[in-house]
Amino acid sequence: MKAIRKAVIPVAGLGTRFLPATKAIPKEMLTIVDRPTIQYIVEEAVASGIEEIILVTSAGKSAIENHFDYDFQLDTVLKDRNKIQMREELNNISNLIDIISVRQKEPLGLGHAIWMARNVVGDEPFMVLLGDDLVMSKVPCCKQMIQLYEEVGESIVAVQQVPMEQTHQYGIVEGLPTEYERTYKVDRMVEKPAPGTCNSNMAIIGRYLLMPEIFEFLEKTTPGHGGEIQLTDALLALSNKRGMYAYEFNGKRYDAGDKLGYLKAIVDFALSHNALGKPFREYLLSVCNNIAKQ
Ligand code: UTP
Repeated sequence: MKAIRKAVIPVAGLGTRFLPATKAIPKEMLTIVDRPTIQYIVEEAVASGIEEIILVTSAGKSAIENHFDYDFQLDTVLKDRNKIQMREELNNISNLIDIISVRQKEPLGLGHAIWMARNVVGDEPFMVLLGDDLVMSKVPCCKQMIQLYEEVGESIVAVQQVPMEQTHQYGIVEGLPTEYERTYKVDRMVEKPAPGTCNSNMAIIGRYLLMPEIFEFLEKTTPGHGGEIQLTDALLALSNKRGMYAYEFNGKRYDAGDKLGYLKAIVDFALSHNALGKPFREYLLSVCNNIAKQ
């Protein structure tokens, strides 16, 4: 069984749900407490043993690459001003991991974005972490999936249960439970099913562990829902060929590309922040008390 060494992080989407904030700033660079969203995601990959990251970017996203680059000028200034701790923190970011960028010239969909990484990924299984999907968990979500892969040896999609009336907003998986904890054998997958057309509430979130054959199917996939090349269509073809598992990960997921999801992430990440957690909690309690009085 080949080890999982590489992770693809697509960040080439337009971020229309978060306009106007994302007109000039990539949504992946919006801050959650003290770090941009993308840094949490790269840190999750690193903490899961990933050795190389492939960012799928587009025009206007260079701030993401710069964030993980070494900034000689800034480093010199911090050194001259004896800002040791801040210098170390910044250098830790640029030393986190090897990052390679590939371009998606047009936002033709998530499936297309992943296909752009095919030459860098090559013939080995790999992870995909969406650049705007955050997971808070004791064991990184990506690591949980790699551990399961070491048992099942096939592709895995991370899922969470959502209210039935929200299934039309997600890719939905149907499948039967397996001998592995929180794990289902995928039977059927539908991208954003119309209300009432699907019996499952298991929604795919932004973490995938994929066999390299996915690229064969992505190449053949024609534009689907919304005129985009959907990953879900290729996932279904791959699951029919080799089998696939859906894994109900341990943790809480936030869609940081959505305004409300982003606010929820800020609150929860601030509450669990080492230095800010306590004073922020006190502030939140005072806000709640005021709301209760109204
Ligand atoms: P989203 O659908 O959340 O991203 O795609 P989006 O298209 O930027 O968002 P909205 O709906 O317009 O607000 C999930 C992930 O896939 C990437 C996005 O950057 C995001 O990380 N993506 C999406 C691409 O890289 N390329 C695409 O063509 C589409």
